[in-house]
Amino acid sequence: MSRLAVIGGSGCGGIDGAEILDHKESLTPFGDPSGALQVCRFQGQEVIFLARHGAPHHVPPHLVNYRANLWALQQAGVDRVIAVNAVGGIGDGMHPGRVVVPDQLIDYTYARKHTFFDDDYPGGLTQVKHIDFTEPYDDGLRDALLDAAATCGLQPADGGVYGVTQGPRLETAAEIVRLERDGCDIVGMTGLPEAALARELGIRYACLALVVNWGAGIEGGGIALATVMRHLEEGMVPVQKVLQHVIRGV
Ligand code: HPA
Repeated sequence: MSRLAVIGGSGCGGIDGAEILDHKESLTPFGDPSGALQVCRFQGQEVIFLARHGAPHHVPPHLVNYRANLWALQQAGVDRVIAVNAVGGIGDGMHPGRVVVPDQLIDYTYARKHTFFDDDYPGGLTQVKHIDFTEPYDDGLRDALLDAAATCGLQPADGGVYGVTQGPRLETAAEIVRLERDGCDIVGMTGLPEAALARELGIRYACLALVVNWGAGIEGGGIALATVMRHLEEGMVPVQKVLQHVIRGV
């Protein structure tokens, strides 16, 4: 069976308008997922929702058990994941409120469990595995997100480099300058290792990012968390519409 899942980040605690049919608790060899998988139905289509930071939101980005989350989703039959991520904007046009469907990733995280093929692999490791990650996101899912966003009247950014930092603190102004020099268009804390782990399991994966602030130092002065929260709340309304549209089309 082919199943779609949504992993919701900050501000995305479920699928608006969906009926929750079941809560599935999962045990995995890698520990506990962030919470129960919500088995949902939206307009006749089944979809699984997982809150990346738990419900209520309490797991910070560097402590999310990304391996358990992806493993649990695969055990539930999921073969496609749409990840929703709140991010900061760096590149031209990446203003708060912008919806971005990135096409590349750069990893600035450290000390995260970033592979299943590790010394705790169930039954022991029998081979060395290197995934191809040249194109980290799934083309078909990216297109579905871009089409849905355009149909919803948005002007999504088609492509962009998502720089993933360790958090939980926000960046310094100098770090944002460095990320910009590296070619990053947006910055967030949760895009990896999630995308790589999905690839290791053969799960198709794409990211629907919402810009909720300008990267540190871009506007001068600090980042006002109240403003971030406002952009998050307002921006999730169109993000939910995009999700609903994609789910209807599966
Ligand atoms: N930096 C890192 N992660 C983020 C940001 C940011 O500016 N905004 C939202 N998530």
